[in-house]
Amino acid sequence: MPFIIAIDGPAASGKGTIARALADHYGFHHLDTGLLYRATGAKGGDPIEAARNLTPDDLQRSDLRSADAGQAASRIAAIPEVRAALVDFQHRFAAQDPGAILDGRDIGTVICPDAPVKLYVVASNEVRAQRRADELGADPAEMLAQLHERDRRDRERDTAPLRPADDALIIDTSNISIDEAIAAAIAIVERARA
Ligand code: DC
Repeated sequence: MPFIIAIDGPAASGKGTIARALADHYGFHHLDTGLLYRATGAKGGDPIEAARNLTPDDLQRSDLRSADAGQAASRIAAIPEVRAALVDFQHRFAAQDPGAILDGRDIGTVICPDAPVKLYVVASNEVRAQRRADELGADPAEMLAQLHERDRRDRERDTAPLRPADDALIIDTSNISIDEAIAAAIAIVERARA
């Protein structure tokens, strides 16, 4: 049985950084599931058709990291048929040996509810806005407004809303270094594997 690590949390919480570091550390496959929604939104046209016809090439587009692509992804991610069209791909990814790490919004709650490790990564709004501003070379106040809008949409949608699974462990990265966050995540995985 491949070992699955589910990582969820709001935008710019640090979940992607933790996911990549764990993948490196354990030699597991890593899927940033936000890319599936970003690529679906970026294809344009009918989002349900776009999700159903998504190809690996679509995930390679260079414009997927922009703030606009994030907002578009958050909007189309509220459509149940879009989410349903992306489930099989995620399940196949999670089935790879020796293990897989998926990060997103609904991995621990919907996609991999039986994962032996579920992390929910959070950080204060101010810290997240500053991180996004540094990343994209943008204004922190503008980033804060965008994060608020995206978080609200992701949390309040009816299908697979952003929330911690009941058995998820919370990592708050507001006041710790990246190395400390990674060490905390590895300690949790080690306990689960013991
Ligand atoms: O993680 P990200 O910022 O790349 O995600 C972009 C949007 O995609 C996010 O605002 C909501 C949506 N998303 C989702 O609904 N479910 C996921 N598992 C991952 C992302």
